[in-house]
Amino acid sequence: MLDGKVAVISGGTSGIGARTAALFVEQGASVVVGGRREVEGKELVASLGPRARFVQVDVAVESDVERLIGRTVEDFGRLDILVNNAGIGGQRQGGWSTIDIERFWTVLAVHVGGVVAGIKHAAPVMTRQESGSIINTASIGGLVAGWTGVDYSAAKAAVIQLTRCAAVELGQHGIRVNSVSPGPIPTGIFGKAAGMDAATADRTASQLAPAFEEVLRSHQSISRAGTPEDVAQALLWLASDASSFVSGQDIAVDGGIAAGRPISVSVEERKRLGAAFASLT
Ligand SMILES: NC(=O)c1ccc[n+]([C@@H]2O[C@H](COP(=O)([O-])OP(=O)(O)OC[C@H]3O[C@@H](n4cnc5c(N)ncnc54)[C@H](OP(=O)(O)O)[C@@H]3O)[C@@H](O)[C@H]2O)c1
Repeated sequence: MLDGKVAVISGGTSGIGARTAALFVEQGASVVVGGRREVEGKELVASLGPRARFVQVDVAVESDVERLIGRTVEDFGRLDILVNNAGIGGQRQGGWSTIDIERFWTVLAVHVGGVVAGIKHAAPVMTRQESGSIINTASIGGLVAGWTGVDYSAAKAAVIQLTRCAAVELGQHGIRVNSVSPGPIPTGIFGKAAGMDAATADRTASQLAPAFEEVLRSHQSISRAGTPEDVAQALLWLASDASSFVSGQDIAVDGGIAAGRPISVSVEERKRLGAAFASLT
């Protein structure tokens, strides 16, 4: 689906980004992976073969993002796809009085600043080519409150709106901009946010799937836990020419969470309410 295309994936050293990098290479693209961890990044691209490169970047630093895009064009001559995927966990929900403002800005710098810098530096290259697909990883937390910390939730809502802003501005140059909003996917992001070392969090993440399924039973109509593969497949479609008339959209990859509660939950509640009415008569 991506034969001959050149892609940049920020936050590609683990989880959703790493699986997306592998899928894009399988589908014929050359891929430049960005991330902070050099060892993991180099190991990943070595496993993906000669069409993959790693550039060490912190997306909260604009000059790093500029270097990531610049290296890609230097090495591969063009840029067709940008996936702004880098992310970190938000603050635990301990009430408004406990919010750490410095951490709040850090979360926004990565999720919002990183996306803005990515679009800023990719857009001129794609404008010259008169084509390109930019995809931002948002979240169910940007669509519905209460799933994540307020910093993460607000940042992802901003990503969804930034997607629309960029889409209406860049469409005239042949550039499409979309986002995906994953539901809870067992990846290392949860362990890292809880203070686990990154390598252990990444290695053990998939073991969390049964716990996720248990918790999500009353929220998600598709009853299995989502996987990085689920999100990567949506990113692939948005990256490819198969979605050439789709721009400014957010696609929830969430097993149905954003659509509403599983009907079994409301049936059960209606039964309880029915019993309460019956007890009155
Ligand atoms: N898992 C979920 O439930 C879920 C749900 C909704 C949305 N998301 C979003 O999906 C994206 C990928 O997360 P994931 O679940 O796959 O977790 P992950 O495995 O922890 O991946 C996060 C990636 O972002 C990179 N990263 C973090 N901070 C960075 C920075 N300042 N500069 C450059 N790279 C940075 C990490 O690499 P380094 O550590 O090497 O920098 C890593 O490659 C994130 O945007 C996340 O918010 C995840």
